[in-house]
Order: sequence, then C-alpha cells, then structure tokens
Amino acid sequence: MSAAPPRLPGPDHTLRFLRQGYRFIGDGCDRLGSDWFRARLMLRPVICGRGADAARLIYDPDLFTRRGAMPPTVLRLLQDKGSVQLLDGAPHRHRKALFTGLLMTDGAERSFLALFENEWRLALRDWTARGRVTLFDAVNLVLTLAVFRWAGVPLDDPARMAGDLSSAVENSGRIGPRMWLALARRNRVERRIRRIIDRARTTGAAGDTALHRIAGFRDADGAPLSPNQATVELINILRPTVAIGRYLVFAALALHRHPAWRDALRGASPDAYARFAEEVRRFYPFFPAIGGIARRDFRHGGLAVSKGDWMMVDLFGICHDPRLFPAPGDFDAGRALSWRDFGFDFVPQGAGDPHGGHRCPGERLTVAAIARATRLLVEAMDYTVPPQDLTVRLSRIPALPESGMVIAEIRERG
Ligand code: HEM
Repeated sequence: MSAAPPRLPGPDHTLRFLRQGYRFIGDGCDRLGSDWFRARLMLRPVICGRGADAARLIYDPDLFTRRGAMPPTVLRLLQDKGSVQLLDGAPHRHRKALFTGLLMTDGAERSFLALFENEWRLALRDWTARGRVTLFDAVNLVLTLAVFRWAGVPLDDPARMAGDLSSAVENSGRIGPRMWLALARRNRVERRIRRIIDRARTTGAAGDTALHRIAGFRDADGAPLSPNQATVELINILRPTVAIGRYLVFAALALHRHPAWRDALRGASPDAYARFAEEVRRFYPFFPAIGGIARRDFRHGGLAVSKGDWMMVDLFGICHDPRLFPAPGDFDAGRALSWRDFGFDFVPQGAGDPHGGHRCPGERLTVAAIARATRLLVEAMDYTVPPQDLTVRLSRIPALPESGMVIAEIRERG
C-alpha cells in the first residue's frame, strides 16, 4: 500500500464486529476502498488488513508475536498460556517441531485415518438404529474417540469429553454466561489431562504416542515442559482435532447443496476427494481472522507500524478474495488448492511455512479427515436431509448451519 490507511469512522467498532462477524474486515475495506484500515475494538486501536500481502506481513515471525493478540478469555479457550502459539524465535521453532513431527507425517495420517474410519463405521450402526442424528454432535464424538485413541490418551466418558472440547471452540466468540461455562468445562478437561500426563511421567512408560512424546518433550533450553505446559500442549492436539467436526458438517452441507459433486465423487480418486476437502476449507467460514502484536517499529509502504501495535488480518476474506480465487462465491471443487503449497493466499488455517511460523500444523490431518468423511458420506451410507434451517450466518463466530445438520433414514451401504 502506498497511502496511510484510512480510519473507520466512529469511536469504537466492537458492536459492529459482533454484528458483522466474518464480514467485519472485508466490509470495512470495501467501504473505505483500501486493503488496510485503522479501527478500535474493545476500545483498543487495531490495524485491520486483507489480501495475501497482509497475510505475508502478519505471518512474518520477526515482525509479529501472538502474545497479547487475543482477548484473555479467547486465549484460554483456544490456546492458553504456555502454549506453542505464544512462543517466538528459536524456542518457538523448537517446540513447533514437536507438533509438525507428530502431525505432518505419512504415518500420522495413515494411523489417524484408520482409527477415524473405524470409529465412523461403528457409529454408523448406531446412527442407523436411531434413524436420525445431528451430524455435528455425531462427528464430534467420532473425532473424540479417534483422536484419544490415536494420541494414546485414556478416555472414560467420550460423550462428556466431546462436549467439553467442542464447547471451547463453540463459545470462543461469545461473551457472558455461555463463555464462563465453557471456561469451567475447559478447567475440567485440564484437570483430567493433567492427571494423565502426571501418570505417564511417573510410570515412565516409553511410547511413540502423542501423550508420551509430549510428556517426555524437552524445550530448547533442555528443560522438560512444566505439568501445565504439557497439559496445554496435549489439549492443543485433542481440542482442534475435535474442531475438525465443523468442517465435516460443512462437507456434508456442500454435498447436499451441490448434488452434482456427490455424483462426480462416487468412486473417484483420493486426490479428487482431497480437492473437495480443500474447497470446503476455502469456501466455508471457520477461523475468521488472525491477530498479532508488532515486535518492533517498521514501515510497510504507507503503513507505519509501531512496536506493540495490534493488527488483525482477515483469513476468511483472503479465501474469498476475487483477485486470488475467480468467482469466490461459487463452490468449485475443481480448483487445484492444497495446504502443501505453504502459501499466503489459501489460508483457512494460517499462512506461510508451518515449521518456521505460526501456520497450523494440523492441516494435513484436517484435509485427510474431511476427505475421508466425504468418501464415507458418499460411498458408505445413504441418508436424507429433512427440512431444517441450514443457514450459515456470517455474523456468528464460529459459523455452523443453524440446525447442526440433521440427517435421517440412515442406511449402511453394503
Ligand atoms: C488436527 C487438527 C489440528 C491440530 C492438532 C491443530 C493444532 C494447532 C496448533 C498447535 C497451532 C499453533 C501453531 C503455532 O503457533 O505455531 C495451530 C495454529 C492454527 N490452527 Fe490449528 N490445529 C488443527 C486443526 C485446525 C482447524 C480445524 C482449524 C480451523 C480453521 C485450525 C486453525 C488454525 C489457525 C488459523 C492457526 C494459526 C494461528 C496463528 O497464526 O497464530 N486448526 N493449530
């Protein structure tokens, strides 16, 4: 950008943000005719940006930290103190390798998918017997069972754990009693996972599971993670994996809205299913925007940033930018999108190289799980979608079809 960014009129824009949700940054940019503007959220000045250029900036680990970039309650529900996301520089890269090493391998994908499909097929018998289920609740349970098994974490009450983990994500965009309840549920998960970490450490059982790798991990300074850090990082694998459930519902919604894709996918290659999964991630709203705090003064064209400035970049808006994706409002699984490019344009789960920056290390498993769930929906079962409110409201963060997507007359395919 060449000129200084314009200012959004008005003293504070928090109410506007709550009203507009995912559209807040895009609407401000459209209104002011600029990819950057200055605003105030919760009485705090913020620089808002959109476009691949903005993603490149906020994912530059030398320029931005994630510390102080989220309100404390949102942080507590989504990441928490002591987590990898709040580290910078060499300590971040070292801790991040724990996640990329656990999650971004052929073996991790293969073993997770095998467990996921197995749990799905077991659940399908129950869905068939019940005849009608809310897909969002049903897939959250499947993902909970699969990820606990995959991570080597014992699970005594799967339904309660699925509810507790998904409530953290569900209520991260809210204020008031629902958010307090979610914080209480988060505390309950933490107490339970902390006991499991302590037990793994005292029994000293060696293993290659996420539980054992995290329990035994040493930070860049050679020190083991504190019990609190180890707990937070194990939850950092469990909670977001359950959050994939939202994308699975969106995949089912896309099949419902675009039956031609269902026909095209039947019997198709794993690559075709992966492309469908990638378009689900581009098209549907999930993670709205990413925040960062400037680590030093710098200039970016006409934009003067001072150390400590708060910036928010529109991840949802970038995935819908017509300069990057022709006809962005069309669902088109024929686009050749892939998380493997580590780029700054297709950024539903962050931008850049996940090893050196804050991009999500879970993209590979996310895409694999959406693709596999789509195949199961298309090839392993028949069902109907009864009349219901499937509206996806962009004012609600995080978004979901209003009904949670009910499916009925469920039958296993032979
Ligand atoms: C297998 C499932 C997943 C796992 C284990 C996982 C884990 C993580 C972790 C540990 C980070 C912090 C990385 C860092 O700061 O260096 C992260 C970042 C991120 N994750 Fe995921 N995640 C998963 C799925 C998801 C899903 C479904 C979304 C939804 C869109 C998502 C969105 C993001 C975003 C936007 C970031 C970037 C945060 C930033 O730039 O500071 N993740 N993820």
